[in-house]
Amino acid sequence: MYVLGIESTCDETAAAIVRLRPQGGGEIICDEVRSQIEEHAPYGGVVPEIAARAHIDIVDGLVARAMEKSGLAFADLQGIAAAAGPGLIGGVMVGLLTGKALAFAAKKPFLAINHLEAHALTARLTDNIAFPYLLLLASGGHTQLIAVNGVGDYTRLGTTMDDAIGEAFDKVAKLLGLPYPGGPHVERQAEQGDPLRFDLPRPMMGRPQADFSLSGLKTAVRIQAEKIGPLSPRDVADLCASFQAAIVDVIVDRSRMGLRLFRASHGHPKAMVVAGGVAANQAIRRSLTRFCGEAGLPLIMPPPKLCTDNGAMIAWAGIEKLRLGLSDPMDFAARPRWPLDQKAERIHNGKA
Ligand code: KG4
Ligand code: ZN
Repeated sequence: MYVLGIESTCDETAAAIVRLRPQGGGEIICDEVRSQIEEHAPYGGVVPEIAARAHIDIVDGLVARAMEKSGLAFADLQGIAAAAGPGLIGGVMVGLLTGKALAFAAKKPFLAINHLEAHALTARLTDNIAFPYLLLLASGGHTQLIAVNGVGDYTRLGTTMDDAIGEAFDKVAKLLGLPYPGGPHVERQAEQGDPLRFDLPRPMMGRPQADFSLSGLKTAVRIQAEKIGPLSPRDVADLCASFQAAIVDVIVDRSRMGLRLFRASHGHPKAMVVAGGVAANQAIRRSLTRFCGEAGLPLIMPPPKLCTDNGAMIAWAGIEKLRLGLSDPMDFAARPRWPLDQKAERIHNGKA
């Protein structure tokens, strides 16, 4: 089974073809990803209108390149999948309409994919793991702990009350004068800094739910920076190290709580999976490796290229649906908001 997947919900345009292996798991035949980071960098964040236009400019060429690299014809595909949300509506519509048009022209089943579901299922593409598992999804737009029970069956165990983890990294980077996106820069600075120099808060630690709140931590960094400014390179490195140490503590504590909630309601997870751009952070990876070792839980972290936005995860989610006999109608509308767990209470910031 071969499926084409198209992604355009944020600032990456991507087209990929994935094959279902006979023994399970997926083989990525090709994965074309174009980042728009340079177009958005001057603004310190993603500008929706610029994103939508950039997707329009390149999506057809990217699909053509993916098809060419794969050596396949549209007739060889079993389905065409496109992310239908959640995300920036202009961009989502570009990829979704492209996917629908191709599916219509090629007379193939169409699959409207939830972008978060695609992140959630990536570990089954790479590692062929069984349900259920505990997922930490940590990106620039999302921070959630989720019980992944099956395709289309998710229970949100925790979410952020304000900023996403990646967003907190980006905001701290901005206030310290580091480039966008801030995560990798903060991490690099933190490697040279003293994590004990600043005593920063660990919001929500010890709380009985598995929720996050990060805007207070970001504000604490700003207050410290203003107190000691103008900042020397050493100050910046120490602030980054202290911030990252606080985030790591919070992530481990919230994951521990998520695991406890999982066990209470769903039994034992088969693994913990970490996905989203933040999973590229080595300090976070190390701490979660230790945590899962202590909890006796295999930790699956897809390679960084598959943790950030890509087309392969969309194609794979399409395969997961197709092999259950599912497909979607051509009038499936773009969904700027599309929670994985439809029953979960909406959090006021709309990010959940
Ligand atoms: O999943 P992703 O590529 O895009 C979405 O947000 O959907 O995640 C990007 C986020 C950004 O906020 C970026 O700063 C963060 O992931 N990030 C990191 C690192 N690399 C990327 N955060 C911390 N440490 C990193 N090494
Ligand atoms: Zn994403």
